[in-house]
Amino acid sequence: MRHVDLKIEDVAFGGKGVARDGGKAVFVPFTIDGERVTTNITREKKQFAEGELVEVLEPSTHRVTPECPYFGHCGGCSYQHISYPHQLELKARQAEQAMRRIGKISEPPMRTIIPSPLPYGYRNRITVHAQDNVVGFYRRDVHQLMDIERCPIAMPEVNDALAQLRAGRVRDGHYTLRAHSGPRVFAQTNDAVAEALAKLIAEILTGEEKFLIDAFCGAGFFSKRLAAQFERVVGIDWDRFAIEAAQKDAGAKEAYVAGDVTTELGWLLQQSDLTSTALIVDPPATGLSAEMRRAILEAPPRTMIYVSCNPPTLARDIAELQQLFSVLSITPLDMFPQTAEIECAVHLQPRLEAEALGAGQRDVRS
Ligand SMILES: C[S@@+](CC[C@H](N)C(=O)[O-])C[C@H]1O[C@@H](n2cnc3c(N)ncnc32)[C@H](O)[C@@H]1O
Repeated sequence: MRHVDLKIEDVAFGGKGVARDGGKAVFVPFTIDGERVTTNITREKKQFAEGELVEVLEPSTHRVTPECPYFGHCGGCSYQHISYPHQLELKARQAEQAMRRIGKISEPPMRTIIPSPLPYGYRNRITVHAQDNVVGFYRRDVHQLMDIERCPIAMPEVNDALAQLRAGRVRDGHYTLRAHSGPRVFAQTNDAVAEALAKLIAEILTGEEKFLIDAFCGAGFFSKRLAAQFERVVGIDWDRFAIEAAQKDAGAKEAYVAGDVTTELGWLLQQSDLTSTALIVDPPATGLSAEMRRAILEAPPRTMIYVSCNPPTLARDIAELQQLFSVLSITPLDMFPQTAEIECAVHLQPRLEAEALGAGQRDVRS
């Protein structure tokens, strides 16, 4: 094994510190930009290398003591050693870099990152695994279960449920523990940041849109909060349990379709008055498929809001959508403090309309 002293220059999306060793990038987890560290090189490739932190020689002023005794071993969190304000700076920078490098936007119109009011104790659900009476999460480096008594990023109610589960004999399997009751379908994980996201979307909408398509709607988190602003709202999701939940308390304006966005979105856009249509897409981490992107480019709605939990796939899709759309604003949100994940909301508008309104200037706050 090779030991080297390195200066960490940046922290890349995914959470690893980046240094240079003779021109080659070296990725080192649990380090912070500005630090000098000793690293054990564990993997060496032509273009880059990976290392494990051995010692912090010069710590960053942003280095703090992690709250969790499992931090560094558990596969969940990557940033507990970094002060919360600096986590926000890093995530905002990583989102911007993805937009520049992959999204091909020379000056991304970034808005200030929306923080989580709770940097710990925010997760309203966790999934733990049980095997041979070990109950917890998988380790970060090997596929091995770690016994976990408490997860500090989860809400107190979730930790109470974990304590209850652990109190008895636990059958092997997976257990999702939730702070809220409700249908077992996708739900946003951080209540306060999810509400801030819905509020942001409501502000972006101009009021001139009459019809809302909520693609990947889940149980209708966005459409239900926004229905009052529209004459008609249609949600699409292929999870029929989520659609059933959305239909349950749906008002007269709301309709929910159990189907694949790949097949449903194109015809829905084609038969809509695009001049008064708003489209929200909130796909899984894989982003939009080529067919979905084509459907949007063939029938571009007046306003589009792309919500994403994965900056690289978001930026890839935005690069293609820019054939027709202008990017008016990009807002990162810290839905998942202490982890490397980043949520973003991007406001897009067909280029001709955006230019006519001078909107590129008008919309960007910071
Ligand atoms: C990130 S969640 C968003 C849920 C919702 N917007 C919310 O805030 O609760 C992604 C959703 O997309 C759905 N989904 C994934 N791929 C899909 C597809 N090809 N067609 C329809 N729904 C899909 C999943 O069932 C899941 O509910």
